[in-house]
Amino acid sequence: MSIYTNSDHFRSIETPFYYYDTDLLQKTIKTAQKGLGNGPYQIHYAFKANSNRRILKEVLKFGLGADCVSGNEVNRAVEMGFDPRNILFAGVGKTDKEIKLGLEHDIFAFNVESLQELKVLDQLSGVSGKKTRYALRINPNVDANTHEYITTGKRDNKFGITLEELNLAIPLIKSLEHTEFIGIHFHIGSQIMDLSRFKELVDRCNEVQRLLLDHSFELPHINVGGGLGIDYDQPEANSIADFKGYFDCFKKNLALLPNQTLHFELGRSLVAQCGSLIARVLYIKPAERTSFMVLDAGMTELIRPALYRSFHFIENLSSQEGSVVYDVVGPICETSDAFARDLSLPETKRGDMLAIRSAGAYGEVMASQYNLREVVPSIFSDDFK
Ligand SMILES: Cc1ncc(COP(=O)(O)O)c(C=O)c1O
Repeated sequence: MSIYTNSDHFRSIETPFYYYDTDLLQKTIKTAQKGLGNGPYQIHYAFKANSNRRILKEVLKFGLGADCVSGNEVNRAVEMGFDPRNILFAGVGKTDKEIKLGLEHDIFAFNVESLQELKVLDQLSGVSGKKTRYALRINPNVDANTHEYITTGKRDNKFGITLEELNLAIPLIKSLEHTEFIGIHFHIGSQIMDLSRFKELVDRCNEVQRLLLDHSFELPHINVGGGLGIDYDQPEANSIADFKGYFDCFKKNLALLPNQTLHFELGRSLVAQCGSLIARVLYIKPAERTSFMVLDAGMTELIRPALYRSFHFIENLSSQEGSVVYDVVGPICETSDAFARDLSLPETKRGDMLAIRSAGAYGEVMASQYNLREVVPSIFSDDFK
């Protein structure tokens, strides 16, 4: 049920809150699975995008695996019923405690980000008496052509090991007794709209694969991460990302070995468009150039605009009359607490309800209690059925 159908229902609800369209979420996951098709492929949902239990429940229904980046995410995955054999654990800074937790749950694999981490994993695996499966995260030095804060696959980013390091690490990998090298992992960044970036990633994957074959490693798994972008400008017209184009880029160009499984770690493209942050207008106040529209939601509920200057489409759900230019800002004592500058919206008054769209990914999960703000609730479209 779309936000329009439901806006009458939630007019009496205290704002701000997150609103999730369950039908759209389901449709998006179905479209992704259809775009991927049958074959040796597996999607792991990136929990970091949104680990709301009800979102995870939907994701689980479709049989997706879990991509986790903290011990708590691994615990949440297990608690929600994800099969540990479908849980990946990535992250540059896993603590010993978190590694031990992954070992206890006997998860599918660790995505290892440095050679020192690999040694620690081997040592802790030895103590636990287990042989642990891992993939090495390779930094392919590919420019994702996205915001610099969400670029992760360039040489100077902290993620993964370089190709040169991989070459030098072959003797180490072969010498370790308590770990099993089962795959290579890549993730070049997020909100990538230019599919040619993924083609470049594929070229690097093929190179790494050749190098490893030269060293007699025939790995059963390749993981190309996530990163597919969504349309923040037109969430209604383009509510579902081009999954087919994205998957085809890998399926057509990646030299998958026989018996090799290709893994994806999608977050944003699966959940962003189904979520909106619903807020009310507290005040309209005159400003130098425009008018400030002060909302009851701010960077504490949705930090992306303040953090990356990212744009979210904003809709006035109470009024469609007229057109006025506003700076749409939050109530937090930071000048960066703004959702949009110089934005034309219908003439807006105190009490109007707004939807800040495409907020289902990296929204609720990044919320903070700065200024002792309340934790915002989430409401799902099926609550109204
Ligand atoms: C290792 C890794 N995999 C997957 C993802 C999910 O990316 P996205 O939400 O862009 O699909 C991220 C997020 O940045 C990541 O760091």
